[in-house]
Amino acid sequence: MTTESEQALKKRKIEKETQPTNMAHEILPVYAAGSDAAFGDYKIKYQESIKDTSKYWGDLAKTELDWFAPFTHVQNGSFEDGSVAWFLNGKLNTCYNAVDRWCLPGDNYRGTDVALRWEGDEAGDVREITFEELLKKVSKIANALKSQGVKKGDVVTMYMPMIPEIAMTMLACARIGAVHSVIFAGFSADAIAERIRSSGSKWLVTADGGKRGGRALPLKKICDTAIAKEICHGIVEKVFVFEHHGEAVGGVHMVEGRDVAFDELIAAQRPYCPCEWMDSEDNLFILYTSGSTGRPKGVLHTTGGYTLFAKHTTATSFDIRRNDVYACVADAGWITGHTYIVYGPLLNGCSTFMFESTPMYPDNGRYWDMVQRHKISIFYTAPTAIRALMRFGDEIPNKYDLSSLRILGTVGEPINPEAWRWYYEVIGKKNCSVVDTYWQTETGGHIITNLPSTTPMKPGSCTLPFYGIDTVVLDPQTGKEIEGNGVEGVLAIRQPWPGMTRSCLGDHERYLTVYMKPYPGYYFPGDGCRRDEDGFYWITGRVDDVLNVSGHRIGTAEVESALVGHPAVSQAAVVGFPHAIKGEAICCYTTLTVGYEESEELLKELKMAIRTSIGPFASPDIICPTPGLPLTRSGKIMRRILRKIASGEIDQLGDTTTLADPSVVDVLIKKMSEKR
Ligand code: PRX
Repeated sequence: MTTESEQALKKRKIEKETQPTNMAHEILPVYAAGSDAAFGDYKIKYQESIKDTSKYWGDLAKTELDWFAPFTHVQNGSFEDGSVAWFLNGKLNTCYNAVDRWCLPGDNYRGTDVALRWEGDEAGDVREITFEELLKKVSKIANALKSQGVKKGDVVTMYMPMIPEIAMTMLACARIGAVHSVIFAGFSADAIAERIRSSGSKWLVTADGGKRGGRALPLKKICDTAIAKEICHGIVEKVFVFEHHGEAVGGVHMVEGRDVAFDELIAAQRPYCPCEWMDSEDNLFILYTSGSTGRPKGVLHTTGGYTLFAKHTTATSFDIRRNDVYACVADAGWITGHTYIVYGPLLNGCSTFMFESTPMYPDNGRYWDMVQRHKISIFYTAPTAIRALMRFGDEIPNKYDLSSLRILGTVGEPINPEAWRWYYEVIGKKNCSVVDTYWQTETGGHIITNLPSTTPMKPGSCTLPFYGIDTVVLDPQTGKEIEGNGVEGVLAIRQPWPGMTRSCLGDHERYLTVYMKPYPGYYFPGDGCRRDEDGFYWITGRVDDVLNVSGHRIGTAEVESALVGHPAVSQAAVVGFPHAIKGEAICCYTTLTVGYEESEELLKELKMAIRTSIGPFASPDIICPTPGLPLTRSGKIMRRILRKIASGEIDQLGDTTTLADPSVVDVLIKKMSEKR
């Protein structure tokens, strides 16, 4: 039996599937990455890994992780009731594996190697921290948190700039068994408040201020506004405030008894803190992400499985080695930062690079200047950044020595072939593998990706599944597996893997509804896909109401709820449309409450309502007030039509005769043509 919401989800999926997929039928070249033998080995090893996933992951868990007490069973539980568990009864600590392991005497010792290399907003403002220094600083932060009452299992919210202390605090939480909940520093006070309410987090770690692209970020002030919201009333006990860029925001006000000058408290601590013995299935962190409803969900990751998956995917997808200068230029506030800035590289005993600024500051050559100065060898970014930079031409990257680069990575959305080629040719000089890593917050790490020097590359395709990831294509309507190649449907995963999310914090039912129930027996990531004639995967985009704007995941329902929160809006329907740089942009159709008229002022207010509710990164490109929306006779909004109109594909509207009032379509087309 499926519930009404599941049926609605499936219906939306089917509706979206009928959209043509841009890249599907383009004939593209295949780029060799390595020898046929290497690719042959991958295929054999992959088949073995999915034939017996317990053996594959169990063997790795024993060799790759240090355990305080061994696990008794590799895996148990199933997708159906969300009882999946890995490395049962084993005891370990993620921070120990990422930091201590490299500082203790013995074969693993790398204590004097650089662990964190940071470049601030201003070019050349650099900090380097060795593994030994990291162990001491993380221990001190852990002791400081403990001294204020933070305990194993407590949720610690973090709203931080991109400074080494964000990674250190995450590691400190892992060390004492506190569950970090990092909120990307572009989210608004309302969004912070909602996440604090939802997790009941008593602890908040922030900084006085940050700077990005020369602009001040008043982080502490935003936190104060969040905590003052009614929904947060009485929840937050302590706010730990790092000093970073206070002068940029004119200093901060500290609330007595609640706010703690964190650097002072940390300085007074002992530089060693014992690690909590965590069960494999103890919570490591939550990360809020958007879904089909208005409320973001707290995606939960646990200790043993996530740690192994983060380590193994980083080692394999990036072929990371001890002397690599590895740089993932994402923000630690997103899953990419969690797995591939903080945990993955450090778990491999390799240095990680943290970047506070933007690719455009002080000019459009910032990334390439950093590659040259730091001799970056592995560089990981998003298609939206590549598209934004390629607009400025080849001369800018050509001014820099990029010969240190060995591997280039991309993540966040399908990369268009033009951007892929620019990345490969102009940045990588045809000498680097470009790894197109497909994954999501919920998967913990890469699940489909080419492997460097191994998998042939097809621009726009994330190619083939990672070891131990049993991918299938399902018929969206019947839920049956589609065998063979040259097929299209929705992506699903047939067997559990260690890095998968275990639940949504406080709402296991929602977890089941979103990921497990749409196709019983499978994990459903929410993406459409095509498997081409060679068996390579092409992600065709989300099949639910989730947008991907500049690689940021935004639920249409969240934007709609921000709009209808404004008294002028009686109804809102939000859709995405293709955008040359962002990949997808936001278009909001709104009907106005009687008594309100469309004006520049009102449009500005509505935009501001979205920025206030979610954050500036969710700003819409188009707001289109309209006298009516295309409704079916049963009152449902036909988003398919709205998407087509927003995309300017008015010759592909399909059947509009089932609408309660088909004339509304012409009105919308006219309105939108004025908006462009
Ligand atoms: O639609 C897929 C797209 O981004 C979604 C996951 O978003 P999020 O949880 O925010 O994580 C982003 C970073 C992993 C996916 O469901 N996506 C991510 N990477 C790719 C991608 N689509 C195509 N190709 C990719 N490489």
